Amino acid sequence: MSAELWNSAAHVLDDNWSGDHMVPSRRLYPHQWSWDTAFIAVGLAYVNPSRAWRDLRSLFEAQWPDGRVPHIVFDPATPENNYFPGPAFWDVPAYGRRPAHGSTGIVQPPLHAVAAWEVYRHASAHGATCAHEARIELEWLYPRLVAQQEYLLVSRNLSGSGLAAIVHPWESGLDNSPAWDAAMANVPADMSLLATHRRRDLEVADATHRPTDVDYARYIGLVISYRDEGYSDSARHAFAVECPSFNTILASAELALAQIAGELGMPAEADAHRERAHRITTAIVKHLRNPATGTFHARDVRTGTLSPEHCVSGLIPLMLPDLDPEHVEAIVAEARSPRFGLPEQTELPVPSYDRTAPGFDTLRYWRGPIWINMNWLLRRGLLVHGRMDEAEDLRTAMMRLVHRNGHFEYFHPISGKGLGAPAFSWTAALALDLLADRSVPAYARAA
Ligand code: SER
Repeated sequence: MSAELWNSAAHVLDDNWSGDHMVPSRRLYPHQWSWDTAFIAVGLAYVNPSRAWRDLRSLFEAQWPDGRVPHIVFDPATPENNYFPGPAFWDVPAYGRRPAHGSTGIVQPPLHAVAAWEVYRHASAHGATCAHEARIELEWLYPRLVAQQEYLLVSRNLSGSGLAAIVHPWESGLDNSPAWDAAMANVPADMSLLATHRRRDLEVADATHRPTDVDYARYIGLVISYRDEGYSDSARHAFAVECPSFNTILASAELALAQIAGELGMPAEADAHRERAHRITTAIVKHLRNPATGTFHARDVRTGTLSPEHCVSGLIPLMLPDLDPEHVEAIVAEARSPRFGLPEQTELPVPSYDRTAPGFDTLRYWRGPIWINMNWLLRRGLLVHGRMDEAEDLRTAMMRLVHRNGHFEYFHPISGKGLGAPAFSWTAALALDLLADRSVPAYARAA
C-alpha cells in the first residue's frame, strides 16, 4: 500500500498547488485556508519543502497589523462568486501592503508554529541547500508566529481566563460541531440572509454532507456583525466560546516556538514560551474540564457553562505534555470508550462526534464523520504520553482508511466511504507524514 498511497498523495498536492499557495480543494475551497496551510506544510515538507515554506509565507504575508492571521487569504485570480462568503462580502480594508478585500477577518487554530518546526526539522536533514533555506524561512516566520500568539492571548482573552475565545464557529475549524450548539442557540438565524446570498458550497458538494441552512444563516449573521464593528474584539460578540482543541493548539504553538527560539539562539525567549504553554495548560484544565466526568468540553464565555456534548475536540488536550497522569488516563479512556472507540474496536480512526449521541450524523461535516487532521492531532497526543501501541493502531487505521477510500475531506464513520471534497490537500499531506512516521514531538515523554 505504501508506494501507492505515497504517489497518490503527492499527486493531490501537485494538482492543488496554485503557484504561491495550496488550495484545500479545487472546487469547494478555491483560496488559501489558514490551518489547512499548517497541516499541508507538514506533509509537503517530504515532497517539496520549498513549496511548504512558500505556502506558510503566503499566509503570513496576509497577517494583519494586530497579529491576527486570517482564516482565508483570497486569491485575486478567483472570481467573487466561486466561493461564498467571498472577498467583497468580508469587505476587509487595505492594510500594510495588502489591497482591500485580501482576506477574511477571523482566525483559525494557530498550528503554524508546530508546522514550521516540523518542516524545519525535516528540511535541515536534507542537505545544505534545504537547511539554508529552512533557516532563512524560520527566522522570517518566528516574529510573525509570536505576533499571532500575542493577538490570541491578549485580544481574544475575552473571559480573562487566559484562554483564547473564538468568536465564530469557523474559527475553530470544526464549523458545525455539536460543541457549539448551546452557544449558537443564542445567535439569531435570519433566514432571509440566504435569499440574498446564495450558498456556493451546495453547488459543488452534496447538501447532506454540509452544514444546514439554519447554521449558515447564523454563520453569515455573525460575519456581518463582526464586519460592521470593523472586526474589533472590544465589540460585543453574540458567540464567544473557549474550545479545548483551539487552546491546546495555542499551547502546542508555544512549545514549538520554544524549540524554534532555542534553535535561533534565544534561550530566554524559549523559556518564556515554555512558561506560557504551562499557563495555558493550567487554564485548560481549570476551565474546560468537567470535574464530574474528567472530560474536556467547549465553554460558552457568555454564560460560563461547559457544553454537555462529547466531541473529538475534547480529546485533543492529550497533546499537552504537562497534563497530569489522571487527566491523560481520562482522555484515553474516553477515546477508547464506545463514544469514540479507538481502532481496537472499530478498526477506524475516531469520529468527530460521540457515536452514542442521538444526534450522531454519519454524513454531516463535523457532526459524526471521521477527519484525518483531528486523528493526526490525537495520535500526536498519544505519542506525547508514550502510548505507542494505541498511536500505532491509529496510524495504521488512518492510512488504511485513506488508501481504501481516497484522499477525501472526511469519511463515513461506519462504512469509511469518502465524503465532502475529493482530492483534499490536508488528507493527502498527512498521509505522507503518517507513511514517513516522523511525527514524534521533541517534547514527548519516554515510552
Ligand atoms: N469551512 C468553511 C467552509 O465550509 C469556512 O472556513 O467554507
